[in-house]
Amino acid sequence: MTSSRTDFPAPSGSEWWRDAVIYQVYPRSFKDSNGDGMGDLGGVTEKLPYLKQLGVDAVWLSPFYLSPQHDAGYDVADYRTVDPRFGSLEDFDRMREEAHRLGLKIIVDLVPNHTSEDHEWFRAALAAGPGSPERERYMFREGTGENGELPPNNWKSLFGGRAWTRVPDGQWYLHLFDSTQPDLNWENPEVWEEFRAILRFWLDRGADGFRVDVAHGMIKADGLPDWDEQVHMVEGTDSADDAAAATHPTPGEDPEGPGKTMDTGPYFDQDGVHEIYRDWNRVLREYPGERMLVVEAWVGPAPRLARYVREDEAQQAFNFDFLVAGWHRDRMRDTIETSLRANSEVGAPCTWVLSNHDTVRHSSRYGLSSRTAYPNGIGAQDEQPHPGQGLRRARAAALVELSLPGSAYVYQGDELGLPEHTELPDAARQDPTFHRTAGAELGRDGARVPLPWSPVGEGLGFGPAPWLPQPESFHEITVDHQLGDPQSTLSLYRRALRLRHELGLGATGFAWHPLSDEDQGVLAYVLPREDGDVMVAANLGDAPATVAELSTGELLLASGQDAVVGDTLSVDSAVWLKL
Ligand code: NOJ
Repeated sequence: MTSSRTDFPAPSGSEWWRDAVIYQVYPRSFKDSNGDGMGDLGGVTEKLPYLKQLGVDAVWLSPFYLSPQHDAGYDVADYRTVDPRFGSLEDFDRMREEAHRLGLKIIVDLVPNHTSEDHEWFRAALAAGPGSPERERYMFREGTGENGELPPNNWKSLFGGRAWTRVPDGQWYLHLFDSTQPDLNWENPEVWEEFRAILRFWLDRGADGFRVDVAHGMIKADGLPDWDEQVHMVEGTDSADDAAAATHPTPGEDPEGPGKTMDTGPYFDQDGVHEIYRDWNRVLREYPGERMLVVEAWVGPAPRLARYVREDEAQQAFNFDFLVAGWHRDRMRDTIETSLRANSEVGAPCTWVLSNHDTVRHSSRYGLSSRTAYPNGIGAQDEQPHPGQGLRRARAAALVELSLPGSAYVYQGDELGLPEHTELPDAARQDPTFHRTAGAELGRDGARVPLPWSPVGEGLGFGPAPWLPQPESFHEITVDHQLGDPQSTLSLYRRALRLRHELGLGATGFAWHPLSDEDQGVLAYVLPREDGDVMVAANLGDAPATVAELSTGELLLASGQDAVVGDTLSVDSAVWLKL
């Protein structure tokens, strides 16, 4: 294993996004400023100073556009209008101005694979009928079977059930997600023109970048061939037509591992999709100020993903291999190696991400008995995460994530060690996955619960009647509690981000430490710096591990008060050392 692993020089380039820490705001659950139970842009503006003090460089906001909210805003009815639930364009301008005043960049979400059924284009397509130019903007097809009563092919929706819905005149339209999210036809130049215009609309309004939704999905294989492999079927369920489906990697107790759990099939990662990124790259270059694209592409293995961040395409791609690696030394080690290698070959920085609004929060995943558990939601009847173990590992993982070369993504609440809500009542669930699978898949609501800001105030300071109920466990871990506690997870994140900045972590080279090859379960590496190398060690093993540098180096940061005992690193702990 040692022989196949290498050291990496510091990545080239000085653009801000190369080593930025980017905080994901899920607007509906961040902060409610008008008391309607849902977070909004006013709430984001109010809390920007909190994010500045946390020490992040940029904020990515999940969609806040006009939408019927069948998929929490990833079903856009108008790409140029702010949904009144979240505010107005003026609220966006105020937020962006304040963010820029504080030195924070703003990244907005772009949803190009599909629109909402409420988008004026889709309404026009339904009204205009078969063969019309309006239908050509979407993926309408005739059915099969004697009278067209069967769908055009056997594709499944990623949210469960079939990927086709029939309209009254007999045609079918494709939706890789919910039936309220019709897929656009990216063979149509009008669609290209429209998305260039949408990019320019937000670039003109001062957006510093875009997170691209389902970035590997817009181009479908010629002829829309059947796809027999049931890639998204959940282990243990029947393979009936309406069997449960997962959003991305096949969920389960122990997915095969990084690079092997990604979306494949005739609707993902088709070569033609790269032409879109070349086109958008040119649009971004019309603007000053290092604008960027980060793609949400569940593509593996790493060299395949790296194609999205070639010099004339996107700037970043989320590293989901790292997210699904679990709390497992060898998988984390191999993911770091393959990601650094693949990205260095195309001159792009890596990204590191542990959680987002589509995954069970890592402080809960890490609390399950399997180190690589990747469930699609956790319910009251499921194994309950061990809160102590999960949080301890999450704190250690943060020190790994925030030290690696490249850019890091922090999902709102990561900095609080926030757990998943594992006891949400079914009646509260809103994720279309839950409904399309008749409850077989719990879905993502447990990771989307409104943030706890303070022990006093309605909705723990979020606002009255939060759209999802907050669990009891949130009462003791609010921002206000944690700000006053130097041992809290929030204090750990703040120290880590300050040190990261001071030491220039994120922009360093990388060298493996021999401990990463030993049997103790330690992940260790050295970040070379002119002003003294930094060593990072994390113990993912089952017993305290000897780390000689604990005696000789200077302890910069530890994941917990008991992380270091003499020259041993405790289980589920991590440290930063100056050598
Ligand atoms: C990925 C988004 O992150 C997820 O929340 C959404 O449901 C799907 N794409 C469909 O837009």
